[in-house]
Amino acid sequence: MINALRQKRIVLGISGGVAAYKGAELTRRIRERGARVRVVMTRAAYQFIGPLTLQALSGQPVRTDLFDVNAEAGMGHIELARWADAVIIAPASADVMGKLAHGLADDLLTTVCLATSAPLLIAPAMNQQMWLAAATQANVALLRQRGVEILGPASGEQACGEVGPGRMLEVDRLIEGLNARFVNDALAGLKVLVTAGPTREAIDPVRYLSNRSSGKMGYAIARASAEAGAAVTLISGPSNLTAPETVRCIAVTTAREMAEAVSRELDGTNIFIAAAAVTDYRSATVGEQKLKRGDEPLTLTLVPNPDILATVAAQARRPFTVGFAAETEQLAVNARAKLEKKGVDMIAANDVSLPAQGFESDDNNLSVFWPQGERILPCAPKEKLARQLVALIAERYHAHARHPA
Ligand SMILES: Cc1cc2nc3c(=O)[nH]c(=O)nc-3n(C[C@H](O)[C@H](O)[C@H](O)COP(=O)(O)O)c2cc1C
Repeated sequence: MINALRQKRIVLGISGGVAAYKGAELTRRIRERGARVRVVMTRAAYQFIGPLTLQALSGQPVRTDLFDVNAEAGMGHIELARWADAVIIAPASADVMGKLAHGLADDLLTTVCLATSAPLLIAPAMNQQMWLAAATQANVALLRQRGVEILGPASGEQACGEVGPGRMLEVDRLIEGLNARFVNDALAGLKVLVTAGPTREAIDPVRYLSNRSSGKMGYAIARASAEAGAAVTLISGPSNLTAPETVRCIAVTTAREMAEAVSRELDGTNIFIAAAAVTDYRSATVGEQKLKRGDEPLTLTLVPNPDILATVAAQARRPFTVGFAAETEQLAVNARAKLEKKGVDMIAANDVSLPAQGFESDDNNLSVFWPQGERILPCAPKEKLARQLVALIAERYHAHARHPA
């Protein structure tokens, strides 16, 4: 199965049980898979494992207090709740499950769980009688019914000497369960082609025309599509990012190279997502030698580059085609105009005039338009936004496949 943990943000809750020591191994292993981990311990967990170990292994301060004046704006619980792509509690005590089932929030961990929209996974660990107690079973059933994923417990010999159900699942199994939470089959069996990054157009051997695109959004879309079960090809302009290991990556430099690669790869593609910021113009001439400085003004003649999106959209048997629009004004009007002019199935528009969003930044917001509708995806880290966008693309693709335009 694809390693879907890379670049994910995981809040690991550790509560007060003997298995708390396994939280150290779990922290290490989640990080090994490329995710970021922030550990939240209950007060009781301190009796079983020291926070320094978890701090060293996670590379982040360990948090416990709800009332922490050093946390961001004194609102650490909200900040953590928003930050998380998933929350996993391992080990989860009978007590913590009881609190969660009843909506109590008297410490940081339980408050984060209430305040987050991220999926919650729970790995119970306790004495078999505690696990089998009617109250615990009722709490587990309630949590399950509300969409909380219960991992385990396993059966076997327990720390207290008894034998029965209540052992925490092994770390390997917890990692599998967490990984599976980020994988879905929304695009299973489909071929997705994504373009990402800027293109570069040479002026002479050392200078070029380009733009501020980092490729982050396109790479995140490629990853999210692979996590949704698609066979993904990513055609990328110059970028410092590494492509997900299950994605086939083709590196290009210029718009014309990107256009050629797209037309080569298009056959059999079900969905084409054009997230690259293709340089609209290139210099009509490319100096063989470095242009020398002079006192006179220098005029560059620019010629238009191929319009990759419009070319794909104009094909008789074209894939479901999604374009991007970076706008600095009148976002909805301009995006709808682009949707019609280019004849694409969907446009994802972002307002690049907003501070700390869009090009180069880690966060973005998107307004997505299609002929019969629109949806706003509010500002979020690009990876999260990419997953929401891919889910929307899958939804529209399947609706479109049933009722083609
Ligand atoms: C030595 C010892 C071991 C314990 N082991 C567990 C356990 O494995 N699972 C559990 O649910 N509670 C266990 N408890 C009880 C919890 O620590 C206790 O219910 C505590 O209030 C849980 O707090 P928390 O849910 O905030 O972490 C243990 C208590 C002691 C003294």
